[in-house]
Amino acid sequence: MMKVGVVYESTRGRTKAMAEAICEGARSAGADCDLVEAADFKEVDSYCALAVGSSTRMKRVLPMVKRLLAELSSLDSLPAAGFGSYGWSGEAPDEITSKLEELGASMVIEVPLKAKDYPGQEALQQCRDLGVRLAKSCEV
Ligand SMILES: Cc1cc2nc3c(=O)[nH]c(=O)nc-3n(C[C@H](O)[C@H](O)[C@H](O)COP(=O)(O)O)c2cc1C
Repeated sequence: MMKVGVVYESTRGRTKAMAEAICEGARSAGADCDLVEAADFKEVDSYCALAVGSSTRMKRVLPMVKRLLAELSSLDSLPAAGFGSYGWSGEAPDEITSKLEELGASMVIEVPLKAKDYPGQEALQQCRDLGVRLAKSCEV
């Protein structure tokens, strides 16, 4: 089954808006997409690709994403990406990416996707493009 998982944690809806746009892109490319709050995340097995997002707080990922990253087991070349909204330094998407790589995921983008504050039109388009890439990575 071609299902992309987009898991996120967001305090003011900014990373959530990115997550919604990623799913929109994945669906436009013909994949199913689960949009999941990190607190509700259960398991990764049903996904052919995974995006994990968090805004940055005190230079770190938010707590539910931290827990999720700690609980994930080997990702065995699963296509994946990190993303998130930030205010000034934006470490969380980098932290997510490092952890996903450590778990053996295969990153579909070279650098994690970051949007300063509320994602504007350009950032939302980058999110949709990322969704398309994740969906396409499920086909091969
Ligand atoms: C208590 C607090 C700490 C923050 N720390 C950082 C930080 O260290 N680096 C950064 O880039 N942004 C920081 N931010 C800004 C948020 O990442 C930014 O507002 C982001 O757009 C929130 O997105 P969200 O609505 O998805 O949570 C902080 C915000 C708050 C409220």
